[in-house]
Amino acid sequence: MKFPLIQEDEIFKLKAEFESDRRQHKINGGIGVYLENKGTPYILPTVKKTANRLKFNNFNYLPLSGDPAFLEQTAKLALGNSLFKENNRYIAKQGTIGGTNAIYMWARFIKEVDKKPKIIIANPTWENHIRMFEYFGFSVIRYPHFTKEKQFNFAALKEILLKNPEAYVLYQGGPTHNPSGINPDNNQWKVLAEISSEKKQSILFDYAYLGLGNDIVSDSFCIRHFIGKRIPTSFAVSYSKNMTLYQHRTGALFITLNSNQEKEIAEKILQNTFRLVNSNPAAFGEQIVKTILSSKELSDNWKIDLSYMLADLNKRRGIFIKESAGKFDFLKECRGLFGMLFLTPGQISRLREKYAIYILSNSRINFGGISIKNIAKVAKAVLKLKLT
Ligand code: LMR
Repeated sequence: MKFPLIQEDEIFKLKAEFESDRRQHKINGGIGVYLENKGTPYILPTVKKTANRLKFNNFNYLPLSGDPAFLEQTAKLALGNSLFKENNRYIAKQGTIGGTNAIYMWARFIKEVDKKPKIIIANPTWENHIRMFEYFGFSVIRYPHFTKEKQFNFAALKEILLKNPEAYVLYQGGPTHNPSGINPDNNQWKVLAEISSEKKQSILFDYAYLGLGNDIVSDSFCIRHFIGKRIPTSFAVSYSKNMTLYQHRTGALFITLNSNQEKEIAEKILQNTFRLVNSNPAAFGEQIVKTILSSKELSDNWKIDLSYMLADLNKRRGIFIKESAGKFDFLKECRGLFGMLFLTPGQISRLREKYAIYILSNSRINFGGISIKNIAKVAKAVLKLKLT
């Protein structure tokens, strides 16, 4: 058998290499998970409590789209109650195996209706985005996500949108761009929406970190604004990070359509694809999310948990900035788990070889993986590299 050359997934390869590193003082700033300051994996208290209390006494199949209450609560979370009510009739919904599967389902859906799709994606972005859209035969158009001054490159994005009016656009929702932690602000989102409205562009928002930028309402400004402007907008939601459900693969895809009839057809297409690929959604995470979001008390508590996690991430980022002698002040604007250090490949290998500090080859650091105790050590090690 002749096998094709396989490009290994860097994030999981690095995770395995980190785990087999025998040095006690090793620090993992690679894969995007949040660890407690003890360095151990973390489950949000409200999620843990809900999971422990749930009585799983029905292991039967879910409907093909997933649990309807889970889908409704998720759409309401992203859109707010009134926008949800106004648009519910036009939104096709599908429960998915995490956020990645939601993107996959969207790409397959688009291929059903558009044989030669083009998509605009930030450079850099989460590596899986590129692999996924290339796999499905999309022409991928990239725009440089930041300027030389390490600010969001609004001008470059606008130019690409205007040049490619027929292209779909993938945005990472909220302020938490992976890998940079830099994304448009609200005024910029408004201008981007104006362009897409005029050019009749269709948008996909990937929400892998909803609530981990500032808070749920502020992070969902862009999706609410685009849907409010009646721009054809889809959104993928993942609960891996904001409910710490990583291995339970809980997510959903929503596609807004022009009529209730189109919505019904789109849901059939999604169900059909989902049946082929996964057969049926995974219930464990959907039940936890549904239970939390359907209860005011639990969802208020979950939002408090999120705000603690967020405050801790901001504290870690703040210590890093303070301890690195003004070299990384641009990180002050970043939100979410990540930031980019703009180190050379040689500097990144040196961090790993000399100091046992792991970050991705695109220079992404995950503040979620580095405890308060270790973050100053990382800053000091970075300063010892020859920075320009
Ligand atoms: C990451 O970017 O590190 C996370 O989103 C984990 C993943 O699935 O890649």
